[in-house]
Amino acid sequence: MADDAGRRPGGHIGQPHVRIDGRAKVTGQARYPADEPTTNPAWAYLVISAIARGRIRGMQLEAARAVPGVLDILNHANVGQEVKSPMGPDGKPTTTTLESDRVWHDGQIVAVVVADSFEAAREAAYKVVVDYEAETPSATFDSPGVQAEALKTDATHSYPLKGDAAAAFAAAPVKLDARYETPTQHHNPLELFTTTCVWDGPKLTIYEPTQSMWGLKAAVARQLGLDLVNVRTVSRFAGGGFGGKGAPTSRTAWIAVAARRVKRPVKLVPTRDQGFTIATYRAETQHHIQLGAERSGRLLALSHEGWEISSRPSSYNVSGTTTTARMYACPNIATKVSVVHADRNTPGFMRAPPDTPYMFPLECAMDELAHELGIDPIELRRINDTQTDPVDGKPYSSRSLMKCFDAAAAKFGWARRNPQPGSMRDGDWLVGYGCATSCYPSNIGPATARLSLTPQGKAAIQLAGHEIGTGAYTLMAIVVADRLGLAVEDVQVTMGDSDLPPVPGAGGSNNAASTTNVAAKACEEIRHKLALAAVQAGAGIFAGADPAGLKLADRALVGPGGRREPLATAVSRISSGAIEVHVENVPQGLAPDAAAALYQGKMSMSRGAERKDVTAFAFGAQFVEVRVHRRTCEIRAPRAVSAFAAGTIVNPLAAHSQYQGGAIWGISSALHEATEIDRRVARYVNDNIADYLIPVNADIGEMDVIFVPEEDHRVNPLGIKGIGEIGIVGMNAAVANAVFHATGRRIRKLPIRIEDLL
Ligand code: MOS
Repeated sequence: MADDAGRRPGGHIGQPHVRIDGRAKVTGQARYPADEPTTNPAWAYLVISAIARGRIRGMQLEAARAVPGVLDILNHANVGQEVKSPMGPDGKPTTTTLESDRVWHDGQIVAVVVADSFEAAREAAYKVVVDYEAETPSATFDSPGVQAEALKTDATHSYPLKGDAAAAFAAAPVKLDARYETPTQHHNPLELFTTTCVWDGPKLTIYEPTQSMWGLKAAVARQLGLDLVNVRTVSRFAGGGFGGKGAPTSRTAWIAVAARRVKRPVKLVPTRDQGFTIATYRAETQHHIQLGAERSGRLLALSHEGWEISSRPSSYNVSGTTTTARMYACPNIATKVSVVHADRNTPGFMRAPPDTPYMFPLECAMDELAHELGIDPIELRRINDTQTDPVDGKPYSSRSLMKCFDAAAAKFGWARRNPQPGSMRDGDWLVGYGCATSCYPSNIGPATARLSLTPQGKAAIQLAGHEIGTGAYTLMAIVVADRLGLAVEDVQVTMGDSDLPPVPGAGGSNNAASTTNVAAKACEEIRHKLALAAVQAGAGIFAGADPAGLKLADRALVGPGGRREPLATAVSRISSGAIEVHVENVPQGLAPDAAAALYQGKMSMSRGAERKDVTAFAFGAQFVEVRVHRRTCEIRAPRAVSAFAAGTIVNPLAAHSQYQGGAIWGISSALHEATEIDRRVARYVNDNIADYLIPVNADIGEMDVIFVPEEDHRVNPLGIKGIGEIGIVGMNAAVANAVFHATGRRIRKLPIRIEDLL
């Protein structure tokens, strides 16, 4: 029998399993989009703008056209009318590229050179001379000429207000009032932002790594005025996404136009530095936090105001106050967010887009308040822990925050911490212990899938799902095997093709919940068909039995008392070939037409922070030790412990990697990563992975991960909370808090580097 969290003794859900696609990946057989074979492809190379603001007066193309092998050069003057402007990550207007002579940001695509070879295209691209009419750009927050825009509640973001936070703060016996900053960051997945377009008559096939098969298909169809059925996207594997491959970018439609013009497939493999400006990034943010508390530590007031950078035309924002307002019991809450428009490319999703930059200030402020009150930081969280959403009074679907703190604290050895900052030393090293809350909303979307089962016990599931490195193929195989009573190896999984049934884009950590719940529903449909046929059969051991009492396990239909009929017998009663079902799953709380929206490439998501019935988040606690050298101020992070409770864990092996990878990225985000901007010209300076600092093995020590068991009966039928993003969320603040504990220096701006401590 399955328990309510979906696990069964002897089942596959909850058992560690190596990746079914692991061998293909390590042997090079896994086909990433740029690897897809095409006949006689031409190559594209991008020309990007050398200014951040202004207009293109003209282009001198003669020298470029003279390069042997050059086939075509696209720019606004010759193709500007052929493509509708792209949409930003929020579905609203963003910067355009070849549609006009306008330059919105440095590194904008201004021409596409197509040639017989990559080398010829590149050589010609460097011979394109652009005549600009340059204006002075505004780079970031304090640059003259930026425009602030206060945001209002919309479909995806809200700005909770409750009670009177200003009055409660003014009257509070203990106050914390501080400002924080987070930097620009870029995802830098190993696989570049490639696109290959192939036309076959009216049909366009796009090979492009994407986190949203149907979203990309619909976006390009709209831009080119094509019927949806004539656009196919293929992305069997993506070499990392982290959000950067979540929203369509402008390049795709232009490569399609180029392929139509030269009447050949066209392949684009942009450079690493171009990826910094032709795709998205995590925008820099600023925060103002005010916490008012009783001497006991109980919060009386929370105010969180945020500011985020975006491009001139786009108001894309992440607005993490939707999350921070829901972390702790507090009677008076005020939140507000503004977008600050600058001459920059439009930002986008990056691992835990709202929560990573917004939990940093809240969790630093909680640590500062704990210090002010003389209360242990873990105890301050316990005093303000709650099972009721402080914004709207709903219950959490489940909330195991303090269990995570207790498990991680024990493993970490928090009891050894002397609370006095600067008091713990090891030779020349100042030792600091820091911790913080982690969380991520548990989102789920509608999904569709096709599933078949043969009498030989082979199953095949097909869906337009996404493998971006998370283990999505294996996830599907485990769930189907579990539910149909097969071995994981008996399940064939096909994904990464928009000719298959649509699922939501792999973002917002929804993928596991959305796709496993539809897979389980499809399995249940097959079980039901087999059970019904068995009880209605004139002969057979289950004739006349209750179909609800028949389960699939160990390649058999199993009834009460353990009576079994081999799967071959049960399936053959319906077909000697295969039983196939097509299933749609629309999670509770979504409109009935949510499935129809999927077929339009639209995401309609049940968002954990703002469900009507419950508030659904996964929670965690992250601990880190830092060591700061007494003389050089070198900062090391030799060990970290992270504990998470996220409902049912389908594959603990893959989950461990997700959690650990997230925690490593958190350390990277706190101590290494920042995209530097030359403020005079609004240009990214370190746009390569030599100068954009990321940790190497020597920067990362012990990384412990603890799974805190949690059964969530309310979040969704399988009890699954997403885990793709939570691993990074708490680590920024944990590191900053540990640096304070080591040194007594409170650094409120990331990343924290030697120069901040000298
Ligand atoms: Mo995630 S940043 O929503 O791909």
